[in-house]
Amino acid sequence: MNQEVERHYAMPSRVGAALARLDAMNPAGALEIANLAPLDQFHAGGLAVTRQLATLAGIAVGQRVLDVGSGIGGPARFLAGAYGCSVTGIDLAADYCWLAEALTARVGLEGKVTFRSADALDLPFADDTFDAVWTQHVAMNIADRPRFYREMHRVLRPGGVVPLYDAVAGNGAPLFPMPWARDSSTSFLLSPVAFRTVLERVGFTVIAWCDITEDAKRWFASRPRGAAGPGFHLLMGSEFPAMAADFARSVLEGRVGLLMAVARKDLT
Ligand SMILES: C[S@@+](CC[C@H](N)C(=O)[O-])C[C@H]1O[C@@H](n2cnc3c(N)ncnc32)[C@H](O)[C@@H]1O
Repeated sequence: MNQEVERHYAMPSRVGAALARLDAMNPAGALEIANLAPLDQFHAGGLAVTRQLATLAGIAVGQRVLDVGSGIGGPARFLAGAYGCSVTGIDLAADYCWLAEALTARVGLEGKVTFRSADALDLPFADDTFDAVWTQHVAMNIADRPRFYREMHRVLRPGGVVPLYDAVAGNGAPLFPMPWARDSSTSFLLSPVAFRTVLERVGFTVIAWCDITEDAKRWFASRPRGAAGPGFHLLMGSEFPAMAADFARSVLEGRVGLLMAVARKDLT
């Protein structure tokens, strides 16, 4: 399962080519966090949603944050740049971690943000390590949701929060290929009710719950078509337009919803 997911996302040749393309567009080496957003905020709604989730979760200056399924690191760099957080990102795809490190060095945040390859279901950290454990658009690839959230709960300090942003099941089957899966064998969407139930069974208290499907519909409708600048097609290849179109149609037709939430690990 993990190998299939990793193969879906990361192709070494594309990852190297994406960095070469970015470097060519910025010969002075002056990449800016905001300019990377079309490529490194790998979720519906882009940087605006990352900003919204940080506000909703009350992320505070200097916190220690773990980003689970950090992709090529856009959200982690945002939290370090905007809030001065110390961020660790983990991702199944070693090639994404490599690119995440390279981009982090390009924007001068290497002292604040690090990445390592690891499985979200087996987090390589001690109990009660982080002030916040963050995840965006990863759970859809995770069959064993209780274990996914149990691991987050374990490494989170009591009183800490888990900001979550994920796709959820709607009324009808999702269309494929999706940006996270070429078919249903690696796609595991829960209904909002089932999602909340898993969080609560693991021991979290849900402190914010926002259905942002209507916002996502507007975002999909306003997205520019085509692939002129840096974008997810650099990582996902020529199939990406079909994936994006199926995601947009699935949301617009109510087959898939978008949910943002914050869960807290209560003080005992
Ligand atoms: C759609 S991307 C989202 C990346 C990032 N969170 C963002 O929003 O920009 C999903 C990421 O989850 C990672 N992923 C999927 N399953 C994982 C697992 N079991 N452990 C760690 N990472 C995983 C993938 O490798 C991929 O980089």
